[in-house]
Amino acid sequence: MISSEQGLFGEFGGRYVPEILRPALCQLEDIYQQLRSDENFWQEYLQLTQEFSGRPTPLTPLPRLSESLGGAKIWLKREDLNHSGAHKINNVLGQALLVKRMGKQRIIAETGAGQHGLATAIIAARMGLQATIYMGSEDVERQYSNVFWMRQLGAEVVPVSHGSCTLKDALDEALRDWAASVDDTHYVLGTACGPAPFPELVTYFQRVISQEIRAQAKHQIGALPNAVVACVGGGSNALGAFCDFLDEPSVRLLGVEAGGRSQQPGQHSIRLQGDLASPGIAQGYKTLFLQNRDGQLGETHSIAAGLDYVGVSPVLADLVARGRVDATSATDSEVTHAFQLLMRYEGIIPALESSHALAGGFALAKKMQPHEHVVINLSGRGDKDIFNIAQALPQQEWLDFLKREVTRTEQRLRESANNPNREEQYVSNV
Ligand SMILES: Cc1ncc(COP(=O)(O)O)c(C=O)c1O
Repeated sequence: MISSEQGLFGEFGGRYVPEILRPALCQLEDIYQQLRSDENFWQEYLQLTQEFSGRPTPLTPLPRLSESLGGAKIWLKREDLNHSGAHKINNVLGQALLVKRMGKQRIIAETGAGQHGLATAIIAARMGLQATIYMGSEDVERQYSNVFWMRQLGAEVVPVSHGSCTLKDALDEALRDWAASVDDTHYVLGTACGPAPFPELVTYFQRVISQEIRAQAKHQIGALPNAVVACVGGGSNALGAFCDFLDEPSVRLLGVEAGGRSQQPGQHSIRLQGDLASPGIAQGYKTLFLQNRDGQLGETHSIAAGLDYVGVSPVLADLVARGRVDATSATDSEVTHAFQLLMRYEGIIPALESSHALAGGFALAKKMQPHEHVVINLSGRGDKDIFNIAQALPQQEWLDFLKREVTRTEQRLRESANNPNREEQYVSNV
């Protein structure tokens, strides 16, 4: 299990926030430190993940794809089968238990692909809390199905329309809100980034992934896997999948970043490899950021909304610097190809974020021996990506469907404008 020296991981991490946020972060740190050594709390957390999210998620072999690629045997850790469709719910359920202990009534969150926002809206509905979710306006467009669900669940979704209109801008806005509302509000940060204790706290809850992989691999493979592969946005699913293998040098750990369209500035989100990113302090912590010489944060791109973040977990930055975790990247077109391979060979529809891990994992498996085993963390399912995929693989049939859908929606809106009572048949105010 990872732990920090006062929130520091090597040269990365720390807590660089306005004075007003310090008491809330200290309170969170105290509660986390108390609960971290409390086995009953971990059991309460596990019970919640089982009852509400369907854990443990299975470890699924991919026999047809492994045979076709011709290298190691490939397995998927099925975080896509969590309630709400991604690993993000693991962290949200853990932080929900902390909110209960702190007695706060409102939660806020930032979201990129919308999966963390969706998980937060779900837990707010379940616990009767007020929720506000900040989301870059570009991500609102890219992941509108999640925006729709968050609003139906009763959360307020606030589009952020400045900067690159993506995750880093949403995170800034959430920190700003928190500074003004800290007395009654908890910030449910969605990845292993931000000021201490968030990187460690989020990793702590996501650790359930590697705990399960370990037990399942021993049972199903008869040994630990030779490699574990995960995609890296902020770093939470990767750290969750790697955590319990950090002290097992025989297990190779590989993080896959978004290679985007090219390695030109603004066309990718590669922070852990080469010198495309450099150390800096922003958004409350020190890590590797994509930035110019003046320290201005750079633009990012990925086909996957959840991976185009400008920084990366300080925990991962340190593990890569120390050589314990390797990093690679997959381009948008490699990702689309891996996405199609998994669907066609194994009947599983992955999220675009997770398809980065697939692309990196397939390339690694091909270089390995048939008696070896690779586990790829499938962080989420692809339902939310239907519009992006339909654009990446354009088909007339899809365009015709969209046109019919627009016509139907316009007609329904006209009908309800002409007859306001009729609207009640469709929408009831709770
Ligand atoms: C399905 C999925 N996978 C991965 C990520 C990347 O986040 P992280 O690196 O924190 O796991 C996201 C972020 O939204 C996501 O929705």
